[in-house]
Amino acid sequence: MSPLDGSQHHGQGHSGREPERGVGKTTTAVNLSASLAVAEKRVLLVDMDPQGNATSGLGHTRQAAGAKQGSVYDVLIGEKSVAEVTRATELPFLKLVPSGQDLAGAEIELVSEFGAR
Ligand SMILES: Nc1ncnc2c1ncn2[C@@H]1O[C@H](COP(=O)(O)OP(=O)(O)OP(=O)(O)O)[C@@H](O)[C@H]1O
Ligand SMILES: [Mg+2]
Repeated sequence: MSPLDGSQHHGQGHSGREPERGVGKTTTAVNLSASLAVAEKRVLLVDMDPQGNATSGLGHTRQAAGAKQGSVYDVLIGEKSVAEVTRATELPFLKLVPSGQDLAGAEIELVSEFGAR
């Protein structure tokens, strides 16, 4: 199992240091993005996790659905463009598409939308 494969195996398959926690996927994504941005590579970090830890890690507030500033949820449901919801960060080369808790609902909505076709 790779730390980056996105699977949720809490409490098994890793060191057991913190059985309730992940393997560092979000931490890796945030740190790698920031490192590349410091090296003047343009990076867009897209937070696709309802937990919004990458979003808060970059100093932004998790966005509820329909919030004025928008989030990746609004992009997924076709309400906003990526450009509209993209935020600046402390690093000039690093931009963020934030997420929020309502993304958990989007999974269910999208499955029924595409499952019906
Ligand atoms: N290299 C590291 N050394 C020590 N602690 C770490 C390291 N990487 C991450 N952590 C800590 O481990 C915890 C889990 O990290 P992180 O949230 O990145 O995991 P995750 O894989 O994204 O979890 P989830 O599956 O819940 O999204 C956090 O408290 C983080 O600070
Ligand atoms: Mg995570």
